[in-house]
Amino acid sequence: MTTLIKNVRIVNAAGSMEGDILVQDGKFAKVGGSTDIETQDQYEIIDGNGLCVIPGVVDMHVHLRDPGQTHKEDIISGCAAAAAGGVTSLVCMPNTSPVADTPEIVSYIKQKAAETGINVYPAAAITFGISGGGCCDYAALKLAGAAALSDDGRPVENDEMLVTALLEGHRLRLPVLCHCEDLKQAAGGKVHESVSESLEVKGLSSSSEYRDIDRTIKLAESCGAPVHICHVSTKESVDIIRKAKARGVRVTCETAPHYFAYTCEKVLSRDADYRMNPPLRDEADRLAVIEGLLDGTIDVIATDHAPHSPDEKCDFTAAPNGVIGMETSLSATLTFMGERLSLEDIVRLMSYNPAKIMGIEGGEIKEGAAADFALVDLNEKWIVDVDKLHGKSKNAVFKGAELTGRVKATYCAGKPVYTSEFGIRNS
Ligand code: DOR
Ligand code: ZN
Repeated sequence: MTTLIKNVRIVNAAGSMEGDILVQDGKFAKVGGSTDIETQDQYEIIDGNGLCVIPGVVDMHVHLRDPGQTHKEDIISGCAAAAAGGVTSLVCMPNTSPVADTPEIVSYIKQKAAETGINVYPAAAITFGISGGGCCDYAALKLAGAAALSDDGRPVENDEMLVTALLEGHRLRLPVLCHCEDLKQAAGGKVHESVSESLEVKGLSSSSEYRDIDRTIKLAESCGAPVHICHVSTKESVDIIRKAKARGVRVTCETAPHYFAYTCEKVLSRDADYRMNPPLRDEADRLAVIEGLLDGTIDVIATDHAPHSPDEKCDFTAAPNGVIGMETSLSATLTFMGERLSLEDIVRLMSYNPAKIMGIEGGEIKEGAAADFALVDLNEKWIVDVDKLHGKSKNAVFKGAELTGRVKATYCAGKPVYTSEFGIRNS
């Protein structure tokens, strides 16, 4: 299939231009300038006037829940949500049931994902069962298709195992994605410490996050291997990472849209759809996360898309942690950061940097590269209606919000995987 997008704004992290994009054989054949064609029959021609094309979003923190918890999400529904949000590549976390700690589970994910049209990169577990029970066989996991290592949902508490993973991950080119949390301080916590008393539920302190980030960075520093820190939410975490970068540590990190959009005031309504781990924090933390995005301390905006069913989310204190986000992350970032960050910066944070950190294709619109992109209307306003989302769960942190900027179509390897007109297309 050949697609020609005429007169569109083409946005890369490195800069933008106006012109046409020709997509042929799954790749960007021509980027910029003017392309005229004689026979319109074999071409899909899109008028790009007033729209922009960005590299597909690379979401490096997603829970697809498959295998084992497919009532919350599965690989097919999760990839439909991805497509609707402009996400063309995603990293899925291994806290499935069973845990993705064997080559068999990783192969299952890869095989099922191949039907979706989205690039799915499984992260395999660092330790057996994500429970600290010894290091997995990273070489075998890589051979089966693992693209990263993570015990996300839990920290790797044992220093020796974490160092082994960092060194082996580095050797095998498997980025190590660390969920940092001091479980001795955090266990059973539900909300940020400043609102825990008024809500009469156990708090999750800032220090339970940043102390473990500090430990993780020091271990990476001592062994000289790179490390990526997941879901940064506190001002102290941003500060620790900023200082570590300044002294040359090979640390990268991510935050999620809810940490720069909202504070823990949201949970005062006792609605579990605003509960996740780490939790929404104070205004000073929100501002520090924004500062980190502006000064380059924070490298990536990922979602931590964590579907849970309405049944599980209905009880404020008993509900599991997590919110969905893939269908809203680009729009929420445009809405809440659009005045502080340029579109090029947003592309860098959501596409270019995560692709580089993961060592995968994507994140750039350039001739010869796989044609993974989203067509976006920056001016369209829409209200997030959870009943219209494409994933299986409804625990959307941006439910009811009015967002500005909307994905009109998503193409992966040159094929439409979503259009606002026709919905999801996995032909
Ligand atoms: O909110 C969260 N949800 N945080 C995590 O660390 C795990 C995730 C999940 O798997 O639901
Ligand atoms: Zn997660």
